[in-house]
Amino acid sequence: MGLELLRRGTKTRMIYLDHAATSWPKPPDVVLAMREFLDLAGGNPGRSGHRLSVEAGRRVYLAREALAVLFGVRDPLRVLFTLNCTHALNLALRGSLSPGDHVVTSGMEHNSAMRPLRSLERQGVSLTVVPCSAEGLLAPDDVAAALTDRTRLAVFSHASNVCGALQPVREIAQCIRARSSALVLLDAAQTAGSMPIDLAELGVDLLAFSGHKGLLGPPGTGGLILGPRVDPRTMTPLWQGGTGSRSEYEEQPEHLPDKFESGTPNGVGIAGLGAAARWLLKQDLQALREREMEQVRLLRQGLSALPGLTVYGPERDDRRIAVLSFTAAGEPVSNIGRRLDEDFGILVRVGLHCAPAAHRTLGTFPGGTVRLAPGPFTARAEIEATIQALETILTTR
Ligand code: ALA
Repeated sequence: MGLELLRRGTKTRMIYLDHAATSWPKPPDVVLAMREFLDLAGGNPGRSGHRLSVEAGRRVYLAREALAVLFGVRDPLRVLFTLNCTHALNLALRGSLSPGDHVVTSGMEHNSAMRPLRSLERQGVSLTVVPCSAEGLLAPDDVAAALTDRTRLAVFSHASNVCGALQPVREIAQCIRARSSALVLLDAAQTAGSMPIDLAELGVDLLAFSGHKGLLGPPGTGGLILGPRVDPRTMTPLWQGGTGSRSEYEEQPEHLPDKFESGTPNGVGIAGLGAAARWLLKQDLQALREREMEQVRLLRQGLSALPGLTVYGPERDDRRIAVLSFTAAGEPVSNIGRRLDEDFGILVRVGLHCAPAAHRTLGTFPGGTVRLAPGPFTARAEIEATIQALETILTTR
């Protein structure tokens, strides 16, 4: 069924503009690395000690190393693998916060941060949600003003999955460090792999990333990076269990990454993610970003000529990523998404994108938006075809 659908999709024209949900297709190196892992390295990494186990462990380590290089991290053991970015955010939040602590976040957050924060709030953590501008941008001074002497963490998304607003992270982190000892947790779900990111240069302490979006790895992968100011002894893991290390003890080991990585890891996914990171290390990330931004400019220009259409998020290129949201007066977003898919083979995401707070900020709650998110392999002709399709949809309703 799935394959048949895919064949129909590729036989007819298919334009994939849903990279903010997950990137597709992946570089061939990713598929190859996953296949090779299963064929040649299918043991349990760090467990059995035989050749297949050692080879699996080697490939997991190579992935850790490639990601460390990509994010400017010196010690690969500070790259912790998780199932996705939500898992990484939960690990950082639940692992660091205790009742009585204060945490600051923004009015543009995805539920991957907002839901654990609301849950922690019920357990005695106090939360300040700093409002953003109508474009979705956070002002560094507003974050600074929200800090108290109990603030332990400030968490915010690098870029909005709804409208692409790219936060001034460096400035925000500077403001926080100048006034408090709070750590900065960056949700890089939408930016990891899509633009150069250097932890130290941004002044970020914890970075949560998804492996399957801009990093071009498979689903079921992600991670949390612990910067040098994070003391892993002060964090608790989300769960405990077998690590293949210190098996003589019934207590969880303290060393990295094992403290936070109990249970058999997603070796095949991590191998694919490692190949994706190595593929990205060979690219010019800034040039890839420029290319995507050119497509967003083209989309924005095309959409602004259509009647009754409102586009959300910042206009300035340096304050956005290649994620564009719009609404059309009098037309439910679900109709537009359905017609794009069924009549034109154009795949987008519509609705609230798991980020109700962001939609409240943008004024698009509860109707949501149509979201267009090109990726590194999107062609200019596909963008032009999308504008044409939208023109047809909006003029023949
Ligand atoms: N968070 C992903 C999205 O925005 C899944 O679509």
